[in-house]
Amino acid sequence: MRDLRGANAIVTGASKGIGVYIAKTLAGRGVNLALAARSAEKLEETRRACEALGVKAIAIPADVSSLDDLRRLVDTARRELGPIDILVNNAGIELTASLVDQSFAQVDGIVRTNLSGPIWLTKLVLPEMIERRRGAIVQVSSLAGKSGEPYGAIYSATKAGLIGLTSALNMELDGTGVKCSAVCPGYVGEAGTWVTQGLKAPSMLKEVPAQKVSDAVMKAIGGAPLAYVTSGPIRPLLALGELWPGLNLWITRRLGVIKMMRAQAERLQAGDDRRSAASVATASGAHRDGGSHDG
Ligand SMILES: NC(=O)c1ccc[n+]([C@@H]2O[C@H](COP(=O)([O-])OP(=O)(O)OC[C@H]3O[C@@H](n4cnc5c(N)ncnc54)[C@H](OP(=O)(O)O)[C@@H]3O)[C@@H](O)[C@H]2O)c1
Repeated sequence: MRDLRGANAIVTGASKGIGVYIAKTLAGRGVNLALAARSAEKLEETRRACEALGVKAIAIPADVSSLDDLRRLVDTARRELGPIDILVNNAGIELTASLVDQSFAQVDGIVRTNLSGPIWLTKLVLPEMIERRRGAIVQVSSLAGKSGEPYGAIYSATKAGLIGLTSALNMELDGTGVKCSAVCPGYVGEAGTWVTQGLKAPSMLKEVPAQKVSDAVMKAIGGAPLAYVTSGPIRPLLALGELWPGLNLWITRRLGVIKMMRAQAERLQAGDDRRSAASVATASGAHRDGGSHDG
């Protein structure tokens, strides 16, 4: 889709991180926005920043892992803005932990947020797009969906799912005027989970600026079916990995990524253990002091 001025878009995960960049870039191109995330206050900040760029922007607090919330999001966006031309499924969560240390509820939460939610939202906007013969759907996936990320097995599985969804849908939608794309960033600097966790990419890989992800989303809306956003040329490495499947594991090990992610998983686990020990201590203190039994 090239003619963006006056188009209407839904962007999820617009309260912080990369989603804020995507929302502002779209607003700068004249696109009206329905912005979604769970944190209402932060979402409102993004809404104001987008409206200052001269477009109509509405904030719709919603949890993408809830189908009811997504129905409400689409209904409100259509009522306030009109037909939806663009969907950017950007909301996502990542838990750096070994699969054995993740609870079934945590696994389910990641799958619902990163994969079921984007599929549901895609299903909700698609019929109208097909009818109008106009639409662009962008899934913010990850390089982890292509190569896998140690201590992010479920995250990687959901991001690979988005790539499969995009590829299959593009075949199914051939000739309808609706296009799907997947954007796969590597390590993102400037904003996003990587920054909030205080992590640094291995020196050979380097972080990419969040704005570069946002620029790739614009190209995806313009019709690029799959974009990698990395600091160096990644396609030859991925192609070699297809020829020699063991290469990926070897490179990941050599670059120190496995060690780095294991250390991060252990740090987070220790933090969790300290937090739950503190809450047990607080609770038993409350009991000792005659506090509430719910404490
Ligand atoms: N940062 C990276 O290095 C990197 C690399 C590759 C891919 N990505 C992908 O890029 C996307 C954005 O990531 P980010 O780094 O910007 O993460 P972030 O800073 O943690 O922001 C995530 C956004 O998603 C929203 N979100 C999370 N769970 C949600 C839910 N259940 N319902 C609605 N909104 C939800 C958050 O808002 P609330 O908490 O307010 O709901 C927030 O706006 C994700 O899909 C991520 O997987 C990031």
